[in-house]
Amino acid sequence: MAATTLSMAYEKEITGIIESMTLEEKVALLHGNGKFTSAGIPKSGFAEVQYTDGPLGIREEISRDSWDPAGWTIDSATFFPAGTALAATWNISLGYQYGIAIGKEARARNKDFLLAPAVNIIRTPLCGRNYEYLSEDPCLISRIAVPYILGVQEQDVAACVKHFAVNNQETNRGTIDVQASERAIREIYLPGFKAAVTEGGSFAIMGAYNKFRGNYLCENGYFLNKILREEWGFNGVVISDWGAVHSTIESVFAGLDIEMGTEAPFNDYYFSDRLLIAVKNGDIDEKAVDEKVRRLLRVLMNCKAGRPERKTGGIGSPDIRKLTYDVASEAVVLLKNNKAILPLDATGLKSLAVIGANATQTFASGGFGAGVKARYEVTILEGLKNRLGGRVNLKFAQGYREAYQPVDNPGKSFGLLPVTKSDPELIREAVRAAASCDAAIVVIGTTRKFDTEGNDRHDMLLPFGQDQLVNAVIKANPKTVVVIIAGGPFDLRTIHANTDALLWTWFGGSEHGNAVADILLGKVNPSGKLPYTLPEKLEDSPAHALHAFPGDSARVEYLEDILVGYRWFDTRGIQPMYPFGHGLSYTSFDYSGCQTDKSGYGKGDTIKLSCTIRNTGDREGSEVIEVYASAPQSIANRPAQELKGFAKVNLKPGEEKSVEIPVCLNDLSCFDENENGWKLHPGEYTLRIGASSRDIRWEVKVKVTSD
Ligand code: BGC
Repeated sequence: MAATTLSMAYEKEITGIIESMTLEEKVALLHGNGKFTSAGIPKSGFAEVQYTDGPLGIREEISRDSWDPAGWTIDSATFFPAGTALAATWNISLGYQYGIAIGKEARARNKDFLLAPAVNIIRTPLCGRNYEYLSEDPCLISRIAVPYILGVQEQDVAACVKHFAVNNQETNRGTIDVQASERAIREIYLPGFKAAVTEGGSFAIMGAYNKFRGNYLCENGYFLNKILREEWGFNGVVISDWGAVHSTIESVFAGLDIEMGTEAPFNDYYFSDRLLIAVKNGDIDEKAVDEKVRRLLRVLMNCKAGRPERKTGGIGSPDIRKLTYDVASEAVVLLKNNKAILPLDATGLKSLAVIGANATQTFASGGFGAGVKARYEVTILEGLKNRLGGRVNLKFAQGYREAYQPVDNPGKSFGLLPVTKSDPELIREAVRAAASCDAAIVVIGTTRKFDTEGNDRHDMLLPFGQDQLVNAVIKANPKTVVVIIAGGPFDLRTIHANTDALLWTWFGGSEHGNAVADILLGKVNPSGKLPYTLPEKLEDSPAHALHAFPGDSARVEYLEDILVGYRWFDTRGIQPMYPFGHGLSYTSFDYSGCQTDKSGYGKGDTIKLSCTIRNTGDREGSEVIEVYASAPQSIANRPAQELKGFAKVNLKPGEEKSVEIPVCLNDLSCFDENENGWKLHPGEYTLRIGASSRDIRWEVKVKVTSD
């Protein structure tokens, strides 16, 4: 995994190109001339620049001047597992392979910029885009996003990490002004972006729709110039979110480089005729335009644009299929498995009821926002058929009806409200199927229409009467497994109380159905862990406990401050339904020999934590080992604990491996608002090694000195 930094080797050549260009040619580079294109420089060998979403794979081609599909027949691609799925694998190497795979597909479709990964913090269970994001925790986000970006950019495509920043809700996203403390942005909301830029070397970053402390993010000099460029040394391009620009002069000076995505006519853009006029009037120095052109050319040249040696990629190759399968299967989280209901023993199974519309639902497209024209997508029912084909009698029953009513809050969000009523006839049919089979699988949860860009959920309840469906099926057949397909968290109180076997899974990509079937049947041992907390009820989660979501139409205050996700639950002593980092296996693991290399550390040191993990069961399996740290509480009002590292190991039955997880001392620092900088407080820190944030197997105290 070689770090890609934006090479400055082309600067002389770039100067020559800029000198040969008219002002009109330069300005043409800085705004969209189609929904997903901006002008090139034909005379210098640069074709039109091509952008593509995004988080679920290479989006189908969109018309140049509207959101309608362009109607191509050669724009299908692999449906990649969503960001939450990738994060749930806690597998850094899969992050890298995922980046390579999606980068290859981007190149095969001749793209220059991949509008991904999306690394916003999952602040509330209700955010409609949670599925695209990775986690509630900045350490997990950073560790997954960095290799992803490295993989993408190795394929000669620029990653465009998004949405910079504090874009954590869809409600009023185009206008909402986020108020958050400096400490909260530094410790929680920015580290993922910082890692993407400083460690991943992301060539591009996307300015978000919303405002931060009064300024739109695409004209927010504090974020774009001060933090991104001055502090983090970013020398790539800042691209606006689609239609997120509100000014010419302010945006130019605040650090935006390219305006994308508003409707045609494209010369109406703030970075089109208006920019030309502003330069001609002397309001903007042409040098500022040159600088933006330089950044774009730097990125294009680093991606080898226009050169014969540029990688040409490929779509849907066997290694990409395998990768999507591996991510989908490693992402499944086994939440609960009482009475060892799972895995199902296929040899003894004669009949299996597969219940729930989500068993036949596809997720590559739907709702609002980026999807994929999937080359194929295996549903869970198809996956089970593929694996059990003919040998087991599979009885499908729809179980519930997906239905919506229009949202009653015009202007706030443009989604749909799910109907929570159950359908008695469908339930009766499901019960008949379950009662007549050896076992039942109920596949419920969300859809792309329900968890979608542009809309936040209104509550955390399972939609379409799914709770009632599950209860009825369990009564009919106690050997029932519930599979939940999720974007963000759901309220599982009813399901948890009545179910013995519970799997949590995601918008899982083209191979999802095969992967889930293999988990259910024990061909693959689950090893996913939750990348966010599943609260018992919505009011328990921080932004909702403090009535700090979604704010009024103008402002939202992040009152929970740094206590996002498990930081809140652990610090306030609130029991979640399932904690951050939780995930069971069909085997068991023993942790022993946990130790640190020293008992005291000073500036610049790295704490080397190690332990031995042994597979004590009779199946091969993988375990994620999580490291949490607590600072001396006396000092800076720290969260009860914070994730500082993790590792994933695969073990055969009886096998043991020693694992080392390094924690840089700097990572124990916190942001000091008085000194406006990071500070490492001396004192006694507690380090914990665990199988989840609430399943701590060992802890130790180490002394930290400030020198
Ligand atoms: C989304 C971005 C996306 C862009 C282009 C916007 O609405 O916020 O994530 O990349 O559209 O599709």
